Amino acid sequence: MTLPGPIGLLAELTYRCPLACPYCSNPLALAAGAAELDTVEWTRVLHEAAELGVLQVHLSGGEPAARRDLEQIVRAAAGAGLYTNLITSGIGLTEARLTALTEAGLDHVQLSIQDTDADVADRIAGYCGASERKRRFAGWVVASGLPLTINAVIHRANIAHCGEIVDEAVALGARRVEIAHTQYYGWAAANRAALLPDRAAVDRALADVEAARARHRGRIVVDTVAPDWHARFPKPCMGGWGARIVNITPHGKALPCHAAESIPGLEFWTVREYSLADIWAYSPAFNAFRGTGWMPEPCQSCERRDIDFGGCRCQASVLAGDAAATDPICERSPHHSLLLAMLETAPDGLPAYLYRER
Ligand code: SF4
Ligand code: FES
Repeated sequence: MTLPGPIGLLAELTYRCPLACPYCSNPLALAAGAAELDTVEWTRVLHEAAELGVLQVHLSGGEPAARRDLEQIVRAAAGAGLYTNLITSGIGLTEARLTALTEAGLDHVQLSIQDTDADVADRIAGYCGASERKRRFAGWVVASGLPLTINAVIHRANIAHCGEIVDEAVALGARRVEIAHTQYYGWAAANRAALLPDRAAVDRALADVEAARARHRGRIVVDTVAPDWHARFPKPCMGGWGARIVNITPHGKALPCHAAESIPGLEFWTVREYSLADIWAYSPAFNAFRGTGWMPEPCQSCERRDIDFGGCRCQASVLAGDAAATDPICERSPHHSLLLAMLETAPDGLPAYLYRER
């Protein structure tokens, strides 16, 4: 059977970032001293991606605007025929630079916000004044005519404001808002005690988002990333391992998902050594959990195995100590009791954050 190509490329241009969010999905130990892919290398990767069938590239980080050649990379992506989405904190981008990016062919901007309350937002980001600068940047994006998506990662400190975050996205002129409940890998796993909300808060947040969706129907698209720690079944992470997405790290490793380096023992190939087509088809990491043949019971004989693909490999690795296990989020997993025990021991109050290194 022919292997379908990926449809999306997550291009992590750099791990450098002015913010220090305690839920960052970047690795806990950043690759010190390793050289980032340069403009020529990214240009080649973007063209290889387009040839492989990729339709959209998400330029991410860290903060992608920390790259001085971001305009050249955007131009290369547009030249390869890719829809180009910039995922940014908005910090460090001037209006003139946004104009240059638009002229280079940028199609879309996704801006993160941390909360509706500026003081809370700045504390979460670990950056005084971030909130005000983000709102100014959102105004430039809307004035430029580029479509704007607002993304907010949800956790204990802001979960009571989900409805207001949707209201704010509408006020900022966004066409789409993502209410993304925290996924617990990378820095979020290290900060789980400070981030994980309780069941009652999650239920209230889901109701608040539904009310906001109804309030703003026809004006904004509201998407959610489910709070799966409180769900019965896991999310279909990445749309299936090695099925839809390629993630390239700043130093050229090709990953089946942004957190895959947290799984011990996987062998990743780099775009410096191999073409993207060879990586997609033959690299050990992409083939480790592709399809359904690797699945253990109960997934192997479960009616949901083609719906959620056994859940998230990184979550299985971090919670069960085995990336090939059924995701412990699933109520049918033999490791589900581990998750229930962790939910029961959630601390009162708000423990201090362990901030991401800059
Ligand atoms: Fe999904 Fe596996 Fe749970 Fe079935 S047993 S719902 S396939 S995680
Ligand atoms: Fe890696 Fe889900 S985040 S498979």
